[in-house]
Amino acid sequence: MDFQGKIAIVTGGAQGIGRATALALAREGAAVVIADRDEAATTALVSGINAWGGRALAVIADVSDEADAARIANETVLTFGGIDLLVNNAGIQQPGTIESTTVQLWQEIIAVNLTGVFLVSRFVMPELRRRGGGAIVNVASVYGLRAEAGWAAYSASKGGVIALTRAMALDGAADGIRVNCVCPGMIDTSLLRANAALLNAQRPDEALRSFARRVPLGRLGTPEEVASVILCLLSPTAGYLTGAVITADGGWEARL
Ligand code: NAI
Repeated sequence: MDFQGKIAIVTGGAQGIGRATALALAREGAAVVIADRDEAATTALVSGINAWGGRALAVIADVSDEADAARIANETVLTFGGIDLLVNNAGIQQPGTIESTTVQLWQEIIAVNLTGVFLVSRFVMPELRRRGGGAIVNVASVYGLRAEAGWAAYSASKGGVIALTRAMALDGAADGIRVNCVCPGMIDTSLLRANAALLNAQRPDEALRSFARRVPLGRLGTPEEVASVILCLLSPTAGYLTGAVITADGGWEARL
């Protein structure tokens, strides 16, 4: 896929699915802005991309903060001259039933996972319109489509991202802005490994294997496998897709 000349923002791009997406976009010729709150990981990744001849910019930002969200869009335009593509990927995950979830935890998860998508998109969409159109991919989760006990706030936040994707797709359609959503399943990242450690602190690898056994394809997904779906949705290959919700889960949601 050719992204030469395109300018892309990836939130939560310092590690995991976001990192794989940022690297793939840079490899395909895009200028990439990595917006993440982890300063050390973000600057290291950006230095690496620039060292091999790519074009990357670090914006240290919290997507749930309105001023930071505005800064992500502004610094991108100042440095690269516009915005064509946005991947709203930043997300956090904490377990909790409806009763064990504190109000503070609920607000934190909704703020990052759902309000963060709204805020960054709010500042980026006018820039896409100025360029005559663009594409956005929101990273939700299979937990936004189906529920499991003990993930109340996370499931609600991701269900919200799916609904917001459809609303954004309709709002952007007249201006040539396509908005789609990817729902990953069990992807081997630090987020999933943290879950495994919560489930089995002594033997987190055993917990990871138990996750893999629940996937029809029999294994965890890689961040690169999700990134390739995201790139497809961003590219002209998916030119007739907007408001779509695509699972990348090894068959997990099909089986529920
Ligand atoms: P990860 O924990 O490996 O990476 C998340 C990145 O987002 C980190 O670099 C982190 O610093 C950044 N981040 C977190 N909060 C932020 C904030 N407020 N502002 C800016 N940056 C922030 O996670 P992973 O697994 O790569 O997840 C990426 C997305 O995929 C998330 O939205 C997650 O909910 C979703 N997802 C992941 C699944 C998995 O199995 N790994 C499954 C389903 C969805």
